Amino acid sequence: MKARSHRLAATCPRGLEAVLAEELVSLGLPPGEQLRGAVAWRGDLEQAYRALLWSRVASRVLLEIGFGKATSERVLYDTARSLDWTAHASPARTLAVDFVGANDGIRHTGYGAQRVKDAICDALRAATGARPSVDPRQPDLRVHAYLTEKHLALSVDLAGAPLHLRSGGVEGGQAPLKETLAAALLRIAGWPAAAAQGLPLVDPMCGTGTLLREGAAMARGDAPGLGRARWGFQGWLGHDPALWTRLVDQARSRPPRPVPLIVGSDQDPQALAVARAALTAQGLDEAVHLARRPLAEVGPPAGPPGILVTNPPYGERLGDPDQAGQTMAALGDVLRHRFLGWRAWILAGSPALARRLGLRPTRRVEVWNGGIDCRWLEVPISARPVGAPPEQVPPPGPPRPLNPPR
Ligand SMILES: C[S@@+](CC[C@H](N)C(=O)[O-])C[C@H]1O[C@@H](n2cnc3c(N)ncnc32)[C@H](O)[C@@H]1O
Repeated sequence: MKARSHRLAATCPRGLEAVLAEELVSLGLPPGEQLRGAVAWRGDLEQAYRALLWSRVASRVLLEIGFGKATSERVLYDTARSLDWTAHASPARTLAVDFVGANDGIRHTGYGAQRVKDAICDALRAATGARPSVDPRQPDLRVHAYLTEKHLALSVDLAGAPLHLRSGGVEGGQAPLKETLAAALLRIAGWPAAAAQGLPLVDPMCGTGTLLREGAAMARGDAPGLGRARWGFQGWLGHDPALWTRLVDQARSRPPRPVPLIVGSDQDPQALAVARAALTAQGLDEAVHLARRPLAEVGPPAGPPGILVTNPPYGERLGDPDQAGQTMAALGDVLRHRFLGWRAWILAGSPALARRLGLRPTRRVEVWNGGIDCRWLEVPISARPVGAPPEQVPPPGPPRPLNPPR
């Protein structure tokens, strides 16, 4: 029997649509349409589950269950009320509605969400005599409502909590990146292909190690969804537990791929302790070498040049901008004198900070990190040494002994 086709969408922060689309195709899903903050395609439930289990870049996966006119509050309510909610939601379970968009009839998302909730509760009460209660924080079922100028699309949020929370989330550290953003940055940097060639990965300001953790898990071929216990589909009546279990079993039985050398350092012992705990939780502690080390003492590991990725301080949320500029300039020096022949990718929090690097980027990708308009800069480093090396260059050789964080 042919499986039912749905309109599916994977969401992502603005600017990452192309990398998400490319990732979904690499997972064997059909090429999707790139929208603002999402990639949409038609596919069956298995494809939606595959995206949930395997995508490292998607924030959520939505499965559309209703679509109709919404030119006014009344029309929007009727569209939402006319759906057969008994096929999706149980009055015994809790509910939340996320609402995106506005038009001349619905100007406020809070009001739009309220009317959709009213419609769902009224429909269920009429059909069953009972209505679900609302839990905006940890609902059993999260409904996603998307309003355009004339129409409303209603979807089930199959992820529930956003997918960057791989296994409950990492706590602490200065401004950690979201795992989904880190994965997108690594894909843009060409890490999957470099890892397959056995090239090394270095982050000299790794903080809680998000880039390294995602890089190691990506190289090993882990399915990120295997670490999660709670999903949005668990409270949805359309969920197919047998199909999900089959896909999880398949993902578990995949043999791990070898992980190339991955090295991270930072000056902050607390961030390193968080990094270490998060790596241990994912069984990646042996795959990533961490050391407490100031940037001024960082050098490349022995072997072929690889990829250096890093997210230096911006001086916006923490620290001061002057210090952030000096750190960027120091990073530029370390790169040009020591990482000869490497490809570096730097997340710069502003054009002024990017200039302090003193190296000419060959690619600039606009990405949003925590509300800050950043640039992911590709900076190829010449294989020939430039000028006099800075002081304290570590001798070439294997990575220096690792100091466990105190
Ligand atoms: C924005 S945070 C990196 C966050 C990281 N990407 C994560 O996901 O946790 C910047 C990091 O740079 C480190 N840092 C700043 N200046 C440094 C220096 N001179 N030497 C080594 N680390 C430095 C800070 O300790 C901080 O952990």
